[in-house]
Amino acid sequence: MYCIWVTCLTQEFLPGSSILLLPLLTSLQCYSQCFSVPENWILVEGVEPLEEVELTFALKQQNVKQMEELLKLVSDPDSHQYGKYLSLEEVATLVQPTQLTEKVVQNWLQSHGVKNCHTVVTRDFLQCVMTYQETTKIRPVSHLLSVFLRNRFPPKGKDISKGWEGARQSALGYQLGVTPSVIRSRYNLTAKDVGTATNNSQAVAQFLEQYYHPADLAEFMSLFAGGFTHMSAVERVVGTQGGGKAGIEASLDVEYIMSSGANISTWVFTNPGRHESQEPFLQWMVLLSNMSAVPWVHTISYGDDEDSLSDAYMNRINTEFMKGGLRGISMLFASGDSGAGCRHLTKERNTFRPSFPASSPYVTTVGGTSFKNSFKLTYEVTDYISGGGFSNVFAMPDYQVGAVQAYLKSVQPLPPQTYFNITGRAYPDLAALSDNYWVVTNRVPVPRVSGTSASTPVVGGMLSLINDQRFLKGLPSLGFINPRLYKLQGKGLYDVTEGCHQSCLDDKVEGKGFRASPSWDPVTGWGTPNYPALLKALMD
Ligand SMILES: *[C@@H]1O[C@H](CO)[C@@H](O)[C@H](O)[C@H]1NC(C)=O
Ligand SMILES: *[C@@H]1O[C@H](CO)[C@@H](O)[C@H](O)[C@H]1NC(C)=O
Ligand SMILES: *[C@@H]1O[C@H](CO)[C@@H](O)[C@H](O)[C@H]1NC(C)=O
Ligand SMILES: *[C@@H]1O[C@H](CO)[C@@H](O)[C@H](O)[C@H]1NC(C)=O
Ligand SMILES: *[C@@H]1O[C@H](CO)[C@@H](O)[C@H](O)[C@H]1NC(C)=O
Repeated sequence: MYCIWVTCLTQEFLPGSSILLLPLLTSLQCYSQCFSVPENWILVEGVEPLEEVELTFALKQQNVKQMEELLKLVSDPDSHQYGKYLSLEEVATLVQPTQLTEKVVQNWLQSHGVKNCHTVVTRDFLQCVMTYQETTKIRPVSHLLSVFLRNRFPPKGKDISKGWEGARQSALGYQLGVTPSVIRSRYNLTAKDVGTATNNSQAVAQFLEQYYHPADLAEFMSLFAGGFTHMSAVERVVGTQGGGKAGIEASLDVEYIMSSGANISTWVFTNPGRHESQEPFLQWMVLLSNMSAVPWVHTISYGDDEDSLSDAYMNRINTEFMKGGLRGISMLFASGDSGAGCRHLTKERNTFRPSFPASSPYVTTVGGTSFKNSFKLTYEVTDYISGGGFSNVFAMPDYQVGAVQAYLKSVQPLPPQTYFNITGRAYPDLAALSDNYWVVTNRVPVPRVSGTSASTPVVGGMLSLINDQRFLKGLPSLGFINPRLYKLQGKGLYDVTEGCHQSCLDDKVEGKGFRASPSWDPVTGWGTPNYPALLKALMD
């Protein structure tokens, strides 16, 4: 059986405005049993016949199960294979589709006159550009092909071009705010804790129309980054930086990964253009599958509600995360800014609403905290927005079973069990400050920027610093850290034990989701990094 996911992305979807590609979908109605339009969405606007459309075909991979087993071994500090990562070419040998799959897909495309296609090193993606008119000619395929058409729909009304709405600015109260020096003192980074290895690098991935401006970054560093060696420019932009205004999300990510991960060369993966607005992750995944040398740490502050995505789509993206882990790459995702989330099933029934990719078992998910006293460098408590909960799609991975069971046993009362899926992958894995940051965007210093969009690059930069020390000792990168992180049992992290995050506002759960507790919890994970202690715990 051959599976293809087709992602059709064109210019006509406008974020937040519910406009989707009607003619394209109806012309492909032969696949209609494979997808459905999510609730609350209507198809309203069409595509010009000669507009260019890019289709991404995800070909069925081989050895996915084997890859999963191998990832467990290379990420488990107690395994002899710990840190024995694969090159992209080795990953390709494992996953590339059978020749038969490739041949069938190629013939199928050719028979529809689709010629302008590009493959990747791992051969499991094909990207084809054609006019919309040409896409309408794609007709049912032979019985050899089982085709899944997977069009992605963003949750209604959510302007995902802002990431997690993301970098949200709160208007409440004057506070001094978080700057690089606050981050560095809270997490015990000294002036010596900067990158020195020549071959280290880190990255943020931006989607949609989020650009950073080099001038903002330089100004941010000169205003806020005193007292430690740092870089003030991005090393490499992959993709096209568009013109226009800088986005607050992009500015935030770049400015803070380069403040905690100071003096480390930083890349920005950028995917401009409206056609990306439906599809934040696949494009980036295709890029990673086509580049042999990529940074060791990637942070991403974008996500969607699990229930707005198809399982097939999420499973494929999850497999792509495994490929990253096998290569020794650490992928960090923001846990989201809606606490446990809320989904109205009926008038009376609500449940929590997990987010993806935060809920993937193969990424490291970062929640958010704030200072107990926002005027002082005190200890940290839950930031009520910190995304967390249990996946409805991915089962709980082995590495976290003990920690999660301990939480479920010791914390009372828990939200009612109808609200969450006790068998699912639980997140976040750890956290950092997410409240009240200073950011420079469009040359203006902006206070009170908040969200797990902020905590994620901060943690990413610290993992890069640890990689740096590891490289100097001749050790491999940290790679997919979760199995090791859970074995640390909180060592090297400040436990966050106070506060609840938000969720459904109904009387059963009194507006609360989960609560933080000693050791791991589905609000702040294992807690926030105490850099020198974490470094020590991860240096072998
Ligand atoms: C992958 O890289 C190769 C070589 O640089 C290039 O020819 C090809 O178009 C790329 N594939 C995609 C999908 O961009
Ligand atoms: C980290 O900093 C805190 C407060 O500044 C201090 O109490 C603690 O001893 C430091 N921990 C380490 C491991 O350096
Ligand atoms: C900054 O990094 C470079 C390598 O990229 C290194 O040569 C230099 O010594 C580092 N600076 C400090 C203060 O460690
Ligand atoms: C630097 O890193 C790249 C991968 O990012 C690797 O291919 C290369 O061998 C490394 N070079 C050294 C000198 O370690
Ligand atoms: C609960 O999660 C599991 C995966 O652990 C999934 O298979 C199951 O369908 C989920 N149940 C619901 C009601 O979503």
